[in-house]
Amino acid sequence: MGVRFKGWGIGLPDRIVTNEELSQTLDTSDEWIAERTGIRERRVGGSAVSLGVIAGRNAIQDAGLLVGDIDFLVLATTTPDRLCPASAPMIANELGLNCASMDVNAACSGFMYAVRTAQGLLETGNRRILVIGSENLSRWVDWSDRNMAVLLGDGAGAAVLEYDETGTDVLSFVLGSDGSAADLLTCEHGGYFQMDGKEVFRRAVRVVVDSAEQAMKIADVSPDDINLVIPHQANVRIIKAATQRLGIPMERTVVTLDRYGNTSSSSIPLAFFDARQNGRIKSGEYALMTGFGAGMTWASAVVRWSR
Ligand code: UT7
Repeated sequence: MGVRFKGWGIGLPDRIVTNEELSQTLDTSDEWIAERTGIRERRVGGSAVSLGVIAGRNAIQDAGLLVGDIDFLVLATTTPDRLCPASAPMIANELGLNCASMDVNAACSGFMYAVRTAQGLLETGNRRILVIGSENLSRWVDWSDRNMAVLLGDGAGAAVLEYDETGTDVLSFVLGSDGSAADLLTCEHGGYFQMDGKEVFRRAVRVVVDSAEQAMKIADVSPDDINLVIPHQANVRIIKAATQRLGIPMERTVVTLDRYGNTSSSSIPLAFFDARQNGRIKSGEYALMTGFGAGMTWASAVVRWSR
C-alpha cells in the first residue's frame, strides 16, 4: 500500500518587501542579507487561514478533484490565526470541505510532519488527504529586530495525497525532535520570534545531513541517485553546507528563499511547486525532501515521483 502525491498548489501575499526596503528602517543592507542568507525579498500579508485556503483550493484543482473527494485536512502551521480554535477547521469551512481537520505544529519541519501524519491516516481508511503548510510569520516578527525581520516571510503551499494499493511515492521517512534545544528558537505568547542563529545553523546542518543519510539508506538510494533536493529554505549557506556534506551538487537543489525568505512550514511545498513549474519534477526520478526547525524538529524523506 502507498501514497501518491496527486496535486499541488500555493498561496502567496501580493506584497513584496525587498531587502532595500528593510534597509530603510533597520541597521542592515541588501548586501549583508543576500550574502549571509541568500534572501533578496519576501512576501508579507494574509493569514494562515487566508493563504492556506488559496493553496488548498489550487491543490485540489491541480489534482483534478472536487472538495467532496477530500477525507481529511492536515494543516502544518506555526502561526495559526488564533491559539484556539485550530486554523484547519476554518480553512476546511472556507473551502467547503466536509471532513475532519486539524493543525500540526512542528515549526519548519511542519509540512513533512503533516505528510507523515497523512501517510498514517491513509493507512487507516482515508483515501485522499489535503496537506497544507501555511504561515503568517510576519505577524510575530518585531520589525525593529534585524536578527529576525530580515529572515521570515509569509506564504502557503499544499498537496493532495492519495491512497494507492499498487505502489508508493514515499520510499522512506526519518523524523526526530530534541526539546532540549527548545530555547534556541522561540516565540512566547504575546511576543516575537527570537533565535540563537549561530547555534540553530550548526545544529540544522547536522540534523539535515544525519536524517537525509538515514532516509537514503532506508530507501536504498545513494546521493548520486537523488535527482533533486527540496530543502527547507532558511539560509542558502545551510543548504550549501548540508548538500556538500551529502555529496549532492547544488545544481540539483531547489532554492526559492531568494524570493520568499524563510516561510517555515510552507517552504518545502513552495519549493516543490517552483521546481515543478520549472520542469524539474520528472516521473520516475528521486527527490530528497528535508526540513528542520524550532523544537528542534527535523524530517527527511526520499520520494520517487509517479506523475
Ligand atoms: O527555519 C529554521 C530556523 N532558522 C535558521 O535556520 C537560521 C539559522 N541561522 C542563520 O541563518 C544565521 O545564523 C543568521 C542569518 C541568522 C546570521 O548569520 P551569521 O553569519 O551567523 O551572522 P552572525 O549572527 O554571526 O552576525 C555577524 C555580524 C554581527 O556583527 P559583528 O558582531 O560581527 O559586528 C551581527 O551583529 O552581522 C551582524 N548582523 C547583521 N548585520 C546586518 C546580524 N544580523 C544582521 C543584519 N544586518 N540583519
